[in-house]
Amino acid sequence: MSSLPIPGPRGRTLLKDLQQMQINPLFLLYKNSQEYGDFVYYPLGLLNVFLINHSEAIQHILSLNHRNYSKDTFQYNLLSSITGKGLLTSEGEFWLRQRRLVQPAFHRNRITAFSDLITGATQSMLERWERVSNTGQPLDIDAEMMQLTLAIVGKALFGTDLTDQASELSRAALTVLDYIVHRARHPISLPPGFPTTRNREFKSALNKLDKAVITIINHRRTSEKNGGSLAKDREDLLDRLLEARDEQSGVGMTDRQLRDEVITLLIAGHETVASALIWTWYLLSQNPPAADRLRLELAQVVGGRVPAADDLPNLPYTRMVFEEALRLYPPAWMISRKALAEDKIDCGETFIIPANALVIISPYIIHRHPTYWESPDIFNPERFTLDKISGRPHFSFIPFGGGPRLCIGDSFARFEAQLIIASIAQRFRLELLGNPPIEPEPLVTLRPKHGLSMRILPIN
Ligand code: HEM
Repeated sequence: MSSLPIPGPRGRTLLKDLQQMQINPLFLLYKNSQEYGDFVYYPLGLLNVFLINHSEAIQHILSLNHRNYSKDTFQYNLLSSITGKGLLTSEGEFWLRQRRLVQPAFHRNRITAFSDLITGATQSMLERWERVSNTGQPLDIDAEMMQLTLAIVGKALFGTDLTDQASELSRAALTVLDYIVHRARHPISLPPGFPTTRNREFKSALNKLDKAVITIINHRRTSEKNGGSLAKDREDLLDRLLEARDEQSGVGMTDRQLRDEVITLLIAGHETVASALIWTWYLLSQNPPAADRLRLELAQVVGGRVPAADDLPNLPYTRMVFEEALRLYPPAWMISRKALAEDKIDCGETFIIPANALVIISPYIIHRHPTYWESPDIFNPERFTLDKISGRPHFSFIPFGGGPRLCIGDSFARFEAQLIIASIAQRFRLELLGNPPIEPEPLVTLRPKHGLSMRILPIN
């Protein structure tokens, strides 16, 4: 099957590994990459599965020969039960048309317009933190970051239309995501049509999300018709999606397409950013010199002001801290593809990937590969000076994927996260309660296994 036999677990070892895969897939994939190298092969009866951990091979799959690799995989098929044919899960010509329609909404100039929204939501959280810090009570930073990023992406999408329902919708979003994780871990459980408690909860949560989104879309369509144009004082992503027109046909999105894209952005755009921030606070708490240097940079550049978009180019260390957190704990810890036809990958050695094989790429594992990263387990933001970035193979750092399916929200996420980090680190020091290391749990994103309880200490 291949020019070189690809190593991997066999026989009883394979069976044991498959059990481990259900308990902690991240640990298992990492262990296998250490045992077997950059290409690991799992012969699972009719299904050939490959774990690929080589930057050139990853570039080949995600970019150079991306047309041969589809998203028709268990991971994305499950997600599509929530996101339908949204950008994350659609394919081919349909995906390309949608990507062209949605892309302008994420243009750099348009993102900076969200600056006030991001700092506003963060400041109101910090006012609450101020009161909590006086009591000395710990906070679950996992829950805090999830709430904050959901509020931000909700407002970026819908302006203030969702404010009243925010907490109910955040519960609904979490329920549908938990469901996806459960199904991924238990692929042989009863299908969604069966009225089990879990299935019923999932359906009801998804209905809630759908209803809220569809009501807002209908409301906007009506006011668009009545007023002739969109509200001038409102500049949210939904308006931009409503305005989007195909260049050739001049046709916009149907209600169904809009619903799918909006739910996709809501789901893809909040837990990911929250996860990256959660790990940033954990890592800073374990590396006091880095936290001191971050605070110094903020004091010198921002002083006591609320950070703004214009500050970000002058905050290189803030950026480097965030990139290093994305390296060590990439929220999207697994990317999967299905090979449509047999493919030959040349990267020093030649490997054949058979048609219909499942290919797994893990940002977590490539980000800890000793060929690309010296002392890979050590937190060191200095790896992300501009010089060092340009000296590294491009696909050795893939927190946002790569190639044509690169995350559409990467600039938005970086912008949002850096503003949030600057706003919080300027006012509070976060101290871990409990003993490190905190174990990452590979859910839809990488999350701390038992939350992240921290004490928040005001600076000055
Ligand atoms: C730190 C935060 C984020 C991380 C780590 C992240 C990671 C990723 C990754 C790895 C992919 C590619 C998946 C693949 O190729 O299979 C992706 C795609 C995507 N992400 Fe993100 N993401 C983040 C934030 C966001 C935000 C803020 C949004 C939107 C508001 C967003 C929307 C999307 C969409 C729509 C796609 C599908 C793009 C396409 O295929 O055309 N993401 N993301």
